[in-house]
Amino acid sequence: MNHEPRPSAFIFDLDGVITDTAELHYVAWRALALDLGIAFGEQDNEQLKGLSRMDSLERLLALGTQQFGAGEKLAMAERKNTHYLALVEKMTPADLLPGALDALHSARAAGCGVALASASKNAALVLERLGIARVFDHVVDSNHIRNSKPHPEVFLAAARALGAAPQDCVGIEDAVAGVQAIRAAGMFAVGVGNARVLLAADQVIADLRHFVPSNYLRGMHRLRWVNET
Ligand code: BG6
Ligand code: MG
Repeated sequence: MNHEPRPSAFIFDLDGVITDTAELHYVAWRALALDLGIAFGEQDNEQLKGLSRMDSLERLLALGTQQFGAGEKLAMAERKNTHYLALVEKMTPADLLPGALDALHSARAAGCGVALASASKNAALVLERLGIARVFDHVVDSNHIRNSKPHPEVFLAAARALGAAPQDCVGIEDAVAGVQAIRAAGMFAVGVGNARVLLAADQVIADLRHFVPSNYLRGMHRLRWVNET
């Protein structure tokens, strides 16, 4: 762990950026939806990306007609999580997405702080399975914050932990709610995925193989200079 303040920092989302847990979340939510007789497809799942577990459940239940009490909802969320954890258990470092490890290492090699900002309560476990828990200066996840994405709290907390000003940070996200959170935090937003979906991102790349930290730093400083004049 490095606690020295750094001039600039990269703050990565986990699910869907570093590893394809987005697919595992989808499998687990779809199974729950099937049990409840709710039609739930990939388009519906896209809307859940980046949202907290309970917010995701509310969106899923809104696709059906039945009403459930708080206790029932907690039990459903628990059931989905148990299914999800069984899938996570099978993960290995081979489940890192293409370019992810290089992206993390090159961000560090550029002398920048590197943090994780995840909406998941299972982030630490997933990082362990992937063998990259020690690559991050700080890990901020849903266990540490009150407000879920699209609220900026998780990104601001990560920046604070790194000792970096928000305008000196680049956030990297695959979810619409996540990109909104980065922008609301006052950071430069790199979307990973489809530019037609990630409309609010400052820049969209297909995956982390296209991620060159030094490019973003130059771009960010230019933006700051323009903003300050
Ligand atoms: C986010 C995912 O990172 O974490 C969401 O994009 C997920 O799909 C959320 O619902 C919460 O994850 P968990 O592991 O706490 O249920
Ligand atoms: Mg994500």
